[in-house]
Amino acid sequence: MPTLLLGVSGGIAAYKSADLTSLLRKRGWEVRVVMTPAATQFVTPLTLQTLSRQKVHLDPFDLPADSGVAHIDLVKGLDLAAVVPATANLMAKVAHGIADDLLTTTLLALRCPLILAPAMNSAMWEHPATQANLRLLESHGVSLIPPASGELACGDIGIGKLADVEEIANRIEALHQKRLHANRLHGRRVLITAGGTREPLDPVRYLGNRSSGKMGHALAAAAAMRGAEVTLITTASLPVPPGVGAVPVATAQEMLEAVQKHLPGADLLVMAAAVADYRPARVASQKIKKSDEALTIALEPTPDILATLRPLRRPDQLIVGFAAETDSLIPHAQRKLERKGLDFIVANDVSRPGIGFESDENAVTVLGNDGVVANWEVASKQAIAERLLDLFADRLP
Ligand code: CTP
Repeated sequence: MPTLLLGVSGGIAAYKSADLTSLLRKRGWEVRVVMTPAATQFVTPLTLQTLSRQKVHLDPFDLPADSGVAHIDLVKGLDLAAVVPATANLMAKVAHGIADDLLTTTLLALRCPLILAPAMNSAMWEHPATQANLRLLESHGVSLIPPASGELACGDIGIGKLADVEEIANRIEALHQKRLHANRLHGRRVLITAGGTREPLDPVRYLGNRSSGKMGHALAAAAAMRGAEVTLITTASLPVPPGVGAVPVATAQEMLEAVQKHLPGADLLVMAAAVADYRPARVASQKIKKSDEALTIALEPTPDILATLRPLRRPDQLIVGFAAETDSLIPHAQRKLERKGLDFIVANDVSRPGIGFESDENAVTVLGNDGVVANWEVASKQAIAERLLDLFADRLP
């Protein structure tokens, strides 16, 4: 169970620490709460004790059950620490190493990463002293979840509202994941394709498919988070994850050329793109005009990218395909795995509602040359991407 030290300092938003505690407990975290004396004016220790299901720590001179030292015992076994909300005063003290209560003393003894979620009046937030402290904190490696704009407790409108509790929980989990997996793919080069190809018909039209590119972009983000050098060959106009090099392409032919160019340096290729199997045999140079006649478009096959790599790949490379199927999922995927000479194929049933194309979720079966290696029920594409990258990281020679 990951363990978080949750510091609560004395601002009106302190009551939201109760929601955060409850949410993190539900997501499987142990939450160790330390409050400043001022925080107890806004939310009771009993509330946080009940929600965290453990003693809330307030007093630096409280005698621990054994002969330990309170603030040193508190930091043992921590994965992360967060202060929610962090007042201007708390930020100033942490920035300058002042330790005058249990929370600030504990924060000075931390050996794990610290996240601060500030909340205060906008004048206090914008004050040059607070802004200078922010920069100092960032230079110490502290992560900040910036406050939002809106109506503040004092009635003013401006910046200073505590960020959304769910967003804070997500940031805490993302930082934890990042630390857990950091460097699993360090020194590895990962090549990922994403999105559906677009095969032009004339200057304004193309033949395409419903692939959104979300799965491929999530795979690129998960690989980068694990320290890999990532190249993402994509047709999608989605944001490129931080630290990823993007190669924008449109057609199957362009994707083929980009994959062949980048494959020699890659340790792992994941072809998550939905590549068109056919393209218009000729592309009209002018817009095709409407008429009353039926229109017949001749199509020709596109190159099968994975099949062309078969003779080019090295045995120490891992090559992974995707199979989007509407029926006979496993037999179809199995045949593709063999025909294309893959190490793994990730099969998903795109006829199931709520998963696959355009959706934020997916459910997949991973097949290797020895049969099914994983079968994951519906989860976010991000979560599936994380599991896939861990599986491939384990199998890399
Ligand atoms: N693929 C490819 N080149 C193509 C078509 C597909 O490299 N011209 C890749 C896809 O990126 C995917 C895998 O092959 O990783 C399987 O794609 P899919 O479209 O499911 O298979 P097809 O071989 O096209 O078979 P079918 O469309 O008949 O199901």
